[in-house]
Amino acid sequence: MQPGEPSRTALGAAAHRAVHQVLERGSIFADPLAVRILGADAEAAIRDAENNPSRRMLRLFIAVRTRFAEDALAAAVARGARQLVVLGAGLDTFAYRNAFGESLHVFEVDHPATQAWKRQRLAEAAIPLPHTLTFAPIDFERETLAEGLAAAGFDPAKQSFFTWLGVAPYLTEQAVFSTLGFIARLPGGAHVVFDYGNPRASGSDRDRYAAAQEALATRVASIGEAFRSYFETDALHAELMALGFREVEDLGPALIRERYFVNRGGFLPDRGGHIVRATTV
Ligand SMILES: C[S@@+](CC[C@H](N)C(=O)[O-])C[C@H]1O[C@@H](n2cnc3c(N)ncnc32)[C@H](O)[C@@H]1O
Repeated sequence: MQPGEPSRTALGAAAHRAVHQVLERGSIFADPLAVRILGADAEAAIRDAENNPSRRMLRLFIAVRTRFAEDALAAAVARGARQLVVLGAGLDTFAYRNAFGESLHVFEVDHPATQAWKRQRLAEAAIPLPHTLTFAPIDFERETLAEGLAAAGFDPAKQSFFTWLGVAPYLTEQAVFSTLGFIARLPGGAHVVFDYGNPRASGSDRDRYAAAQEALATRVASIGEAFRSYFETDALHAELMALGFREVEDLGPALIRERYFVNRGGFLPDRGGHIVRATTV
């Protein structure tokens, strides 16, 4: 991110969710606030998507990861989760349509510059702030998650759910495992959903995914938010278990296609973005 500036990839991800509501009619992930929070940017985002059909794959992946996270959250609430931490929230809208009301307190954690920008957008769109929401402005490069959450009133003894979407790829491997370790050690038990990419395919393995991944990596780097980590699936799972997670569910491209794209004509390649749910409960 550029110093003092809100995250531009946060705007990009929110634009994909808004476009998905219009071009695919929210078929994977329906979000009644996705277009509204984009305000005047929504129209340009839709035009841009229509002119760049190659971005569809990323848009569908973003819709899938958010849908998967919210379905997993609902299951965890039924199992006793009472706090949700939206890590690197960007323009995520869950907190403003929280169907669990008093049963689920939401903490939105984000870089102070991105969070201030979001609050301005919420005000402009006249989206009310529910009393079940607490903002926790944290710059991970200056403060730990433990300190920032404690200051916001997060209770480590309560069972908690973390969504961490579109953030891990921008962090170093060490920063990713440090956050996952914090989540795994929470005494009240915790669930986390996050996404990651496999290392770039090379040589004869180069396929449509590699080309798309390279184009995306170049685009995010050009706006000052370069990808810094990729994980091999087996090694990541071993590390999650070593950190203390008991159950790991990993949706790679094949499972994503099977679960979300049957008869929908969606394209997802065989190697690429993964979505993981890990739990200590
Ligand atoms: C690609 S956006 C994802 C936003 C959101 N989760 C979504 O899916 O739309 C990455 C997020 O990570 C946050 N982020 C990046 N660097 C950060 C840092 N050093 N401290 C706190 N948050 C950071 C950005 O502010 C941004 O909201």
